[in-house]
Amino acid sequence: MKRILVIGGGAMGSAFTIPCLENKNDVTITEPYSKKFIRDLSTKKKFHSALKVKLSKKLKFKKFSKNLLRERFDLIVIALSLPGIDFIGKELKDSNVKTPILVLTKGLKYEKKSKRILTISEQLRKVSGTRNISVLKGPCLAKELARKNQTSVVIANKSINFAKKIGKRISTKYYLTEFSKDVIGVEVCSAIKNIYSMIIGAGQSLNISSNLFQKSIIEMKYLTKYFKGNEETTLGLAGIGDLYVSAAGGRNSKMGNYLGKGYTFKNAKKKFMPNDTVEGEQLAREISPFVLKKIDKSKVPLMVNLIRTIIKNKKFKI
Ligand SMILES: NC(=O)c1ccc[n+]([C@@H]2O[C@H](COP(=O)([O-])OP(=O)(O)OC[C@H]3O[C@@H](n4cnc5c(N)ncnc54)[C@H](O)[C@@H]3O)[C@@H](O)[C@H]2O)c1
Repeated sequence: MKRILVIGGGAMGSAFTIPCLENKNDVTITEPYSKKFIRDLSTKKKFHSALKVKLSKKLKFKKFSKNLLRERFDLIVIALSLPGIDFIGKELKDSNVKTPILVLTKGLKYEKKSKRILTISEQLRKVSGTRNISVLKGPCLAKELARKNQTSVVIANKSINFAKKIGKRISTKYYLTEFSKDVIGVEVCSAIKNIYSMIIGAGQSLNISSNLFQKSIIEMKYLTKYFKGNEETTLGLAGIGDLYVSAAGGRNSKMGNYLGKGYTFKNAKKKFMPNDTVEGEQLAREISPFVLKKIDKSKVPLMVNLIRTIIKNKKFKI
């Protein structure tokens, strides 16, 4: 049995505890930010309001604190959304944590000072000082995982053996793991698919969306290589696999659909999705200074078009 701490009691962090517990690990979850998730996880029933399932009684909930981070764990899992990454990096540094980390968060960071794009693991390594960081990505809707529908994900670490060690600790019959050494490629693909799923969602017919899907893959390949990942990773679970799920359903493609209908981002958000986080929007704003200045626009016309649509709040042109 291994001791696992999951930081982030949202939909994904909570769903992730299910295969971990089934693998007979000792699993603790903590939530640093949301009162709603703290309430869900700390009550006896453990009914999760986003997943609409009762979580196992074996799941331990502990209040987030520096002392909790200092406890002995074999693995710390980060399941916060993008805005929580710098916060948790600092907390890990302050508590001098050396435990291996597994990151579920999808996204990229723009470092203003050096004018560079960093992956989440690079950013976390920089802020926290932690060295052994693995990432887990791929097509995984938290609600489906919570219902134990079969899900396949990829774990990436420069040491493939370490990635496999994590896989052994967490995989089940319904939660299957693949492995990769291409940490950058896996992280880049799993982030930018949020933008491309919005673009595919904007196609107002299957024919148009299929065309946008194919063009998106070409751009994803280009960007993965540009950021020094392996082009082939685009065709794996973190790339085309995750793009399919996000384009077929989910908040990004839903927003894309409104953009395709001619709404501006702000109007669509206000009218149809006022309480939803649209991760593709967060990412578009985060990386826009880099993409618009540094990348050859003729290589990524769809991404440039979507970024401009969002930051200038203009109508999307297909
Ligand atoms: N790797 C995978 O298989 C996989 C699958 C689905 C989602 N995800 C990723 O996991 C992350 C969380 O997704 P989710 O569906 O659980 O979202 P959610 O909205 O249900 O939960 C978000 C989590 O982030 C925390 N958070 C939000 N803003 C924060 C802030 N400013 N500071 C600190 N914490 C903050 C929330 O409290 C909560 O714990 C996202 O990045 C998502 O893309 C990964």
